[in-house]
Amino acid sequence: MHRIVFLGPPGAGKGTQATRLSRSLDIVHLSTGDLLRSAVSERTNLGIEADRYMRAGQLVPDELVIKVIEDNLRRPSAKTGFLLDGFPRTLRQAEALAIITPLDRVVSFEIPEEQLLERLTQRRSCPKCARAYNLATQPPRVADHCDDDGTELVQRPDDLPEAVRTRLTVYQDQTAPLLAFYQRLGLLRPINAAGDVDEVGARVRTATA
Ligand code: AP5
Repeated sequence: MHRIVFLGPPGAGKGTQATRLSRSLDIVHLSTGDLLRSAVSERTNLGIEADRYMRAGQLVPDELVIKVIEDNLRRPSAKTGFLLDGFPRTLRQAEALAIITPLDRVVSFEIPEEQLLERLTQRRSCPKCARAYNLATQPPRVADHCDDDGTELVQRPDDLPEAVRTRLTVYQDQTAPLLAFYQRLGLLRPINAAGDVDEVGARVRTATA
């Protein structure tokens, strides 16, 4: 069974690799960022509450995000394995997750900060299917439109410079301590997340084999 967590700073390539790996292992991909962005665009109560935190690059309160993940992990589709992308992000979330389910691997994406900034400022996303592109490294076939569904691509509000700076600080303060937490449990598999998408993908497959 594959019960996998991807941990890493914003822009490290977690979403890009999670889409590929979850398809190849045929397991459900749960991205808290994508789930929250859908809630924001549908203007649900969760989305209205989450929106102001996300725009500012701050974390959404633990109790809201834990509930989202708990609901999704209880679905039949997650019973044969799952890949969590962007959760947990605080010690409290990690402790809550440990009560919900055991894990097999935690892959930590390691990459220098200047590459993160480059990747985030060049990112464009499909608001319909959440696929990420990069104007420099992974442009869409038709300029500004999603290859899969033709929707016009957008820049995420939290990819603007001020929110990016906040997200990097929040990662160091609140999420990086989870590396030691999972190291102690013997679950941590660090990978070099620099390099092209196929190179990183090969390292991810080795780390999760
Ligand atoms: P979330 O959506 O999870 O954002 P993030 O963790 O900051 O991660 P990103 O989506 O920015 O980056 P990524 O690592 O997935 O990189 P990607 O593959 O897209 O969270 C957003 C917000 O939601 C948070 O700030 C918070 O407010 C809230 N939230 C979410 N989860 C939460 C939680 N658990 N608790 C509380 N709040 C939560 O790649 C980035 C770019 O690089 C793309 O352009 C891509 O095409 C390109 N790229 C990818 N790989 C490569 C490569 N190998 N070479 C070159 N370019 C590449």
